[in-house]
Amino acid sequence: MSSPVIVLVGPMGVGKSTVGRLLAERLGTGYRDTDDDIVAGEGRSIADIFVDEGEDAFRAIEKRAVRTALAEHDGVLALGGGAILDADTRALLAGRRVVYLSMDVEEAVRRTGLGTARPLLAVNPRKQWRALMEARRHLYEEVATAVVPTDGRTPDEVTEAALDAL
Ligand code: S3P
Repeated sequence: MSSPVIVLVGPMGVGKSTVGRLLAERLGTGYRDTDDDIVAGEGRSIADIFVDEGEDAFRAIEKRAVRTALAEHDGVLALGGGAILDADTRALLAGRRVVYLSMDVEEAVRRTGLGTARPLLAVNPRKQWRALMEARRHLYEEVATAVVPTDGRTPDEVTEAALDAL
């Protein structure tokens, strides 16, 4: 069975895709992202899945996508920001190299503007961001074998820090 060399977790907008691609290049391996798998598999955007079916349905789809990717992929794998909400998913991450890319709320505002394109942050984004992180920070920390803060760092610097942390 294949197994990802690195799994990236962390909040939306932290740069999992950018850093994941850079890490994959540096390690000479492939890059995969469960959000992309879901969009390809469902033939619609993640925002549309949230609107059409709600968050619970999205989480069920996401859980399957993560399980499949963990079993199939042997490169760098980035998970959607909420994938770690699922206890079975967290259990599947045990024993793997999992890097938590972290950022504080001010960095999140700088990077994303916390704009309306993200369905979980459509109303009062700064407050929702804080609430999301309160609920999730300990879950990211629970699954992580390394925590790499991204505040004030370029993607290249974050990639170096992640490689150092491995
Ligand atoms: C989500 C993060 C998104 C995407 C969906 C829900 C979340 O992925 O899966 O919008 O709950 O944090 P990214 O972290 O890749 O943006």
